[in-house]
Amino acid sequence: MASRASAGVRLQKVLAHAGVASRRAAEAMIRAGRVTVNGEVVTAMGTKVNPARDKVVVDGSDVAVERETRVYYLLNKPPRMISSASDPEGRPTVLDGLRDEISERVFPVGRLDWDAEGAMLLTNDGDLAEALLHPRNSVPRTYFVKVRGVPPDAVMKRVASGLRLDDGPTRKADVKLVAVTAKNSWVRMTMREGRNRQVKRMWEAVGFPVLKLKREAFAGLTVDDLPMGACRRLRPREVAVLWDAVKKRGEEKRNATTETQRHRDLTGKKKGIRKGKRIQGLLRKPVAGSR
Ligand code: URA
Repeated sequence: MASRASAGVRLQKVLAHAGVASRRAAEAMIRAGRVTVNGEVVTAMGTKVNPARDKVVVDGSDVAVERETRVYYLLNKPPRMISSASDPEGRPTVLDGLRDEISERVFPVGRLDWDAEGAMLLTNDGDLAEALLHPRNSVPRTYFVKVRGVPPDAVMKRVASGLRLDDGPTRKADVKLVAVTAKNSWVRMTMREGRNRQVKRMWEAVGFPVLKLKREAFAGLTVDDLPMGACRRLRPREVAVLWDAVKKRGEEKRNATTETQRHRDLTGKKKGIRKGKRIQGLLRKPVAGSR
């Protein structure tokens, strides 16, 4: 059985470090009963394992729990390729053509549709992948999009200010009309979220279907210098910038939350606390020595 010792490492973290999947995808694998530890299926989320001793298997294949050197590649994904590590329908994946170039077991960070092209990060670093994809960190993605028709100003504004989709409202985005042809338009948009088929769904919602989609930049990394289908290893400096980006956004959000909470504490303007009925206990006293 998996070790329950507090010194163990959480199973999803072990899988992410081994390059099996991002931490969130690893959690889904565990929940789905695809993971065994020392021969037993483990579905409990808090399970810890001892990487030096426990045998971890996913879908019948041993997981090399020894931590590999973390590697980072930027790919200019061509269209007509699946952006996952494998495809049950046997379609070509973004990793198929890269086996000679990348010896480590990397996985794509996030998704691009089969017919979409552009910037795609590949790594075996589950922690960074998780941080880049987490909505809390609002990592920017810039798309160059061809839509059918010519969206008028009012539509551009609707897309920029946020739309209601099946899975909730979209965040504000920077959206610019870049070029107009006889029947179609090219739009550049930068978004700070990346839900499934989000760009296509947004333009469908306003009646201007997407004909072509290229991700020009992901988390500030552009594919300007990369021919279609080519990939390059990131420089250590670029990896550091990615980490800085997610840490900075996390800190900004945390500070903003603290400020909002402080305001609520002081004013009592919080759900369930009526004006004029401020609860004294909510007023935080400064802790001696804190600033
Ligand atoms: N939005 C989409 O609709 N498709 C992609 O591939 C990426 C973002």
